[in-house]
Amino acid sequence: MSDKLKLGVLISGRGSNLQSLIDATQDPNFPAEIVTVITNVPDVAGLDRATKANIPTTVINHKDFDGRAPFEDALHAALQEAGVELVCLAGFMRLLTDGFVNRWLDRMINIHPSLLPSFKGLHTHERAIKAGVRFSGCTIHFVRPEMDDGPIIAQAAVPIRQDDTADSLAARVLVEEHKIYPLAVRLIAENRVSIENSCVKIEGASHSEQALINPN
Ligand code: GAR
Repeated sequence: MSDKLKLGVLISGRGSNLQSLIDATQDPNFPAEIVTVITNVPDVAGLDRATKANIPTTVINHKDFDGRAPFEDALHAALQEAGVELVCLAGFMRLLTDGFVNRWLDRMINIHPSLLPSFKGLHTHERAIKAGVRFSGCTIHFVRPEMDDGPIIAQAAVPIRQDDTADSLAARVLVEEHKIYPLAVRLIAENRVSIENSCVKIEGASHSEQALINPN
């Protein structure tokens, strides 16, 4: 049996971040593998991506359950059944209860399209442009019960252009999302990530000395 970290990827839609993980795991040296892809929305494009990569998929439609607890029990059972060690939320658009989050504490990560802790929630690009900030970006973080909260593992900063629309900014941020998700998974799988006082420490991390200035 492989000693790679076993990932369960949860999606609700197009699955481009799932694709970035599939692509990364196709490198034989990548230290993690996707053992299951679960969606709460039937017939989403992300499911085809998983099927094409021969990854088992499950649809657990929240609408089939009477409340959040039984839905999350089914989710939990499916993840356990597949032997998942790290849950990767990749455009999974359901809020999770404290109970579920605590069952996967420090074993569940999320991608969010802003530089957290700014712009939690929805419509992040539109709100960043409206606020006039010069940078937006994306964040991978451990999941905590509060929405879009938790120790930050990796971020990418993307300069906002004066002529940006929410769509043009989203497209540039998405390119970076596809880089930092595999990076964060790799760091965790290599056992280089620890959490101290709610902050992530990464063994052997290197950092750019170069500041980003916008406009330049
Ligand atoms: C991504 O931009 C991701 O950051 C965002 O949904 C999109 C999913 O795209 N996630 C959230 O907004 C979570 N709060 P994808 O299905 O192509 O990966």
